Amino acid sequence: MIHARITGTGSYLPPLCLSNDDLVARGIDTSDEWVVGRTGIRTRHFARDDQSCSDLALEAAKNALAAAGRAVNEVDLVILATSTPDYIFPSTAAILQKKLGMANDAAVFDMQAVCSGFVYALATAEKFIRSGSHKCALVIGSEVFSHILNWDDRTTCVLFGDGAGAVVLEASDTPGILATALHADGRYSDILSVPGSVSGGKVTGSPFLQMDGQAVFKFAVRVLGEVAVEVCKAAGIATSEVDWVIPHQANVRILQATAKRLDLPMEKVVVTVAEHGNTSAASVPLALDLAVRDGRIRPGQRLLLQGVGGGFTWGAVLLTF
Ligand code: ACO
Repeated sequence: MIHARITGTGSYLPPLCLSNDDLVARGIDTSDEWVVGRTGIRTRHFARDDQSCSDLALEAAKNALAAAGRAVNEVDLVILATSTPDYIFPSTAAILQKKLGMANDAAVFDMQAVCSGFVYALATAEKFIRSGSHKCALVIGSEVFSHILNWDDRTTCVLFGDGAGAVVLEASDTPGILATALHADGRYSDILSVPGSVSGGKVTGSPFLQMDGQAVFKFAVRVLGEVAVEVCKAAGIATSEVDWVIPHQANVRILQATAKRLDLPMEKVVVTVAEHGNTSAASVPLALDLAVRDGRIRPGQRLLLQGVGGGFTWGAVLLTF
């Protein structure tokens, strides 16, 4: 039986890091007290004007490949999760392929599931690997949400940041990914969206992120609890047997409420939202890489990765690291 196993992780944060007070100094009508109290966010990173989604992805991908000890041309599948692609087309995965110098005709495509994007991409890559069609996948979440923030909307612009995270997922004799679950409910597509498109040379609708924060909060806590139980059940383990939960980092209160629902101590939850803000599809692989590199996550431990975001989409991946 072919299993799929993470063999390397990597991430990248652009150097510009702004605190809540820095946002106030730039004219945003907010306060450190409000943002920390409601969200737990203290700082976030923003890409330079000349840095695109593929640039951030490139650095994260190089770090993951180095950690896995793989050369770019050993990769036969690239799935890049993003809601802030470089272009309408080609895919950001194809642009990344060029920037990485890959010349082996690997299959590459983008995944659009907003903040669940990395979990969707990882679960998809697992199916390719387990089918035997591919052996070495690069799975990336990369975002420049600063491009779609309305700086006149203080209810959303303080929440997000830019960054990228990546993993190398390889065919293996031993598990690996133990269970995956992916879900969506398009009836909730309006509570978090960027309802714009390009047509006839113009943007129609709005190119900025809009959100019903309280509806998102309630939805996220419910489905993150449900999907955690679903993958643990599928793998035949109790949620208490999970060593680390690596959830999408939207808001520390969502993470606390989910942990409480699952009766898990916050000590088992990797939390990066204070430093990174919400980096959408990048948040889970960024948090994973951070906890791998600082030694918290060790080989053989059970990890629960979770995403929830626009669509509405949600999902989880349970794995042995
Ligand atoms: N600074 C200061 N005051 C603010 C700010 C701000 N940045 N934003 C809103 N306020 C004010 C409002 O104007 C309002 O003032 P009023 O009472 O005088 O009218 C007050 O704060 C309360 O506003 P609410 O929108 O009701 O605030 P709420 O308590 O719901 O908190 C928040 C907003 C933090 C967005 C919350 O709803 C939340 O955490 N939602 C989860 C959504 C989330 O994290 N989304 C991330 C993207 S989705 C995802 O990744 C899954």
